[in-house]
Amino acid sequence: MPKLSYITHDGSRTDVDTAVGATVMQSALERNIAGISGDCGGACQCCTCHVFVEQAWQDRLPPIDDMEDAMLDSTAEPRRVNSRLSCMLTMTQELDGLVVHLPASQI
Ligand code: FES
Repeated sequence: MPKLSYITHDGSRTDVDTAVGATVMQSALERNIAGISGDCGGACQCCTCHVFVEQAWQDRLPPIDDMEDAMLDSTAEPRRVNSRLSCMLTMTQELDGLVVHLPASQI
Protein backbone atom coordinates (compact mmCIF):
# COMPACT_ATOMS: atom_id res chain seq x y z
CA MET A 1 0.00 0.00 0.00
CA PRO A 2 1.84 3.12 -1.18
CA LYS A 3 2.14 6.12 1.07
CA LEU A 4 1.27 9.58 -0.18
CA SER A 5 1.79 12.94 1.48
CA TYR A 6 -0.12 16.18 0.98
CA ILE A 7 1.38 19.45 2.17
CA THR A 8 -0.91 22.46 2.28
CA HIS A 9 0.22 25.95 1.30
CA ASP A 10 0.70 26.78 4.99
CA GLY A 11 2.96 23.79 5.50
CA SER A 12 0.70 21.33 7.25
CA ARG A 13 1.39 17.77 6.17
CA THR A 14 -0.97 14.80 5.97
CA ASP A 15 0.45 11.34 5.30
CA VAL A 16 -1.95 8.69 4.04
CA ASP A 17 -1.88 5.08 2.96
CA THR A 18 -3.52 4.85 -0.41
CA ALA A 19 -4.39 2.10 -2.86
CA VAL A 20 -2.59 1.14 -6.03
CA GLY A 21 -4.85 2.36 -8.82
CA ALA A 22 -6.31 5.29 -6.89
CA THR A 23 -5.55 8.75 -8.16
CA VAL A 24 -3.93 11.38 -5.99
CA MET A 25 -7.16 13.39 -6.33
CA GLN A 26 -9.40 10.48 -5.26
CA SER A 27 -7.25 9.76 -2.24
CA ALA A 28 -7.46 13.41 -1.18
CA LEU A 29 -11.25 13.53 -1.47
CA GLU A 30 -11.69 10.27 0.44
CA ARG A 31 -9.68 11.71 3.32
CA ASN A 32 -11.11 15.23 3.23
CA ILE A 33 -7.78 16.80 2.42
CA ALA A 34 -8.40 20.55 2.26
CA GLY A 35 -7.12 22.15 -0.91
CA ILE A 36 -8.28 19.67 -3.55
CA SER A 37 -11.91 19.74 -4.63
CA GLY A 38 -11.88 17.70 -7.85
CA ASP A 39 -15.03 19.35 -9.18
CA CYS A 40 -15.18 17.41 -12.47
CA GLY A 41 -14.72 14.05 -10.80
CA GLY A 42 -11.42 13.35 -12.47
CA ALA A 43 -12.29 14.05 -16.10
CA CYS A 44 -9.45 16.54 -16.57
CA GLN A 45 -11.96 19.35 -17.10
CA CYS A 46 -11.79 21.64 -14.07
CA CYS A 47 -8.25 22.24 -12.72
CA THR A 48 -9.46 22.08 -9.10
CA CYS A 49 -7.08 19.21 -8.39
CA HIS A 50 -3.94 21.18 -9.18
CA VAL A 51 -0.85 20.14 -7.20
CA PHE A 52 2.85 20.89 -7.18
CA VAL A 53 4.86 17.68 -7.20
CA GLU A 54 7.92 17.61 -4.98
CA GLN A 55 10.97 17.83 -7.18
CA ALA A 56 12.40 14.39 -6.38
CA TRP A 57 9.27 12.78 -7.83
CA GLN A 58 8.83 14.73 -11.01
CA ASP A 59 10.79 12.38 -13.26
CA ARG A 60 9.03 9.30 -11.90
CA LEU A 61 5.58 10.39 -13.01
CA PRO A 62 3.96 9.64 -16.35
CA PRO A 63 4.35 12.44 -18.87
CA ILE A 64 1.76 15.19 -19.20
CA ASP A 65 -0.59 14.52 -22.11
CA ASP A 66 -2.02 17.23 -24.36
CA MET A 67 -5.30 17.57 -22.45
CA GLU A 68 -3.63 17.94 -19.05
CA ASP A 69 -1.11 20.34 -20.55
CA ALA A 70 -3.89 22.58 -21.88
CA MET A 71 -5.81 22.49 -18.60
CA LEU A 72 -2.72 23.37 -16.58
CA ASP A 73 -2.71 26.72 -18.34
CA SER A 74 -6.03 27.53 -16.62
CA THR A 75 -5.23 26.82 -12.98
CA ALA A 76 -6.19 29.36 -10.31
CA GLU A 77 -2.68 29.54 -8.96
CA PRO A 78 -0.19 30.02 -11.78
CA ARG A 79 1.35 26.94 -13.31
CA ARG A 80 4.87 26.00 -12.25
CA VAL A 81 7.37 23.58 -13.75
CA ASN A 82 6.20 20.92 -11.25
CA SER A 83 2.45 21.47 -11.71
CA ARG A 84 0.22 18.47 -12.33
CA LEU A 85 -3.47 17.69 -12.18
CA SER A 86 -3.78 15.13 -9.41
CA CYS A 87 -6.64 13.30 -11.13
CA MET A 88 -4.11 12.34 -13.79
CA LEU A 89 -1.71 10.80 -11.26
CA THR A 90 -2.52 7.17 -10.54
CA MET A 91 -0.76 5.60 -7.61
CA THR A 92 1.52 2.63 -8.16
CA GLN A 93 3.79 0.83 -5.72
CA GLU A 94 6.69 2.62 -7.41
CA LEU A 95 5.19 5.94 -6.28
CA ASP A 96 5.34 4.90 -2.61
CA GLY A 97 6.33 8.06 -0.72
CA LEU A 98 5.07 10.58 -3.29
CA VAL A 99 4.78 14.12 -1.91
CA VAL A 100 2.54 16.80 -3.41
CA HIS A 101 2.11 20.40 -2.34
CA LEU A 102 -1.27 22.09 -2.57
CA PRO A 103 -1.85 25.58 -3.93
CA ALA A 104 -3.39 28.27 -1.75
CA SER A 105 -6.51 28.26 -3.92
CA GLN A 106 -8.11 26.09 -6.60
CA ILE A 107 -10.68 28.65 -7.78
FE1 FES B 1 -11.11 18.06 -12.54
FE2 FES B 1 -8.77 16.92 -12.03
S1 FES B 1 -10.61 16.69 -10.94
S2 FES B 1 -9.27 18.27 -13.63
